[in-house]
Amino acid sequence: MKKEIRRVVLVGTGFVGMSFAYSLINQGGTEELVLIDVNKDKAEGEAMDLSHGIPFGPEKINIWAGTYEDCKTADVVVITAGVNQQPGETRLALVERNAKIMRDVVKNVMASGFNGILLVASNPVDVLTYIAWQESGLPKHRVIGTGTTLDTARLRHEIGKYLKVDPRNVHGYIVGEHGDTETPLWSHTTVGVKPILDIVKDHPEFTKEDLDKIYVNVRDAAYHIIDRKRATYYGIGMCTTRLVKAILNDENCVLPVSAYLEGQYGLHDIFTGVPAIINRDGVREVFDLNITEDELKQLTKSVSILKETLDTVR
Ligand code: LAC
Repeated sequence: MKKEIRRVVLVGTGFVGMSFAYSLINQGGTEELVLIDVNKDKAEGEAMDLSHGIPFGPEKINIWAGTYEDCKTADVVVITAGVNQQPGETRLALVERNAKIMRDVVKNVMASGFNGILLVASNPVDVLTYIAWQESGLPKHRVIGTGTTLDTARLRHEIGKYLKVDPRNVHGYIVGEHGDTETPLWSHTTVGVKPILDIVKDHPEFTKEDLDKIYVNVRDAAYHIIDRKRATYYGIGMCTTRLVKAILNDENCVLPVSAYLEGQYGLHDIFTGVPAIINRDGVREVFDLNITEDELKQLTKSVSILKETLDTVR
């Protein structure tokens, strides 16, 4: 049987896009990677540079600077195009500029006859995922935002450091806006299988106040990074690779992506970060967890802010 040729198209070859591309070619998992950018020279240069690393990577990948027509047979189109935050600027403040870019990009992608999965990483990611879904006409489960996957990774990393355990054994999610109103679900956070709230009860050296400080640090992590190096890209790049691989490998794994809500958590008609099962077909299912009243209140507030922002651009 002829081996299937998997194709990933990246739209936007800035720092985020290229960090994603670099991590993807290092991990492997696709036969083709197409780079598209408004600046054709940039896309071409990036394709050349990346290609020269392929002999040292895990497998052969064809990389080229392409056009939107290449989206026709793509399995996943990753969109990182758009402006990014200046020091002190919120993600939501980018909405007007990036909604316009998102509409143009998605229009061009769809004109190719594209029929795969759209993965949005540009900010504000929850609002832009909605715009991408609207503009694409694709079924809701085939449009995904990176959501709170990165925030959740940051949280697991920080808790792992605090408790001195492997972050891969820290399970839990940040939900809601990828931004200032995101919410940690402490009621559903475990280390191994032990609830973290039991750990702070049983160990006086660990406190809930410290966990709350960890959350604030995680929520504000992008500001701290942007203050120091003007942009964030490696974390989101690897997080996007994780999602692309979950899709291409039909993993059915659980990741907190920006997914469409239609009644889960009593919320409707919005994309936001929630744990969901991801496979070749996109979002198979959104988890509707039994969260505490306080967590639900925070999530509901986060969604209402996203809706207000969405209303300014739709
Ligand atoms: C961050 C950007 C991707 O949180 O929003 O690093």
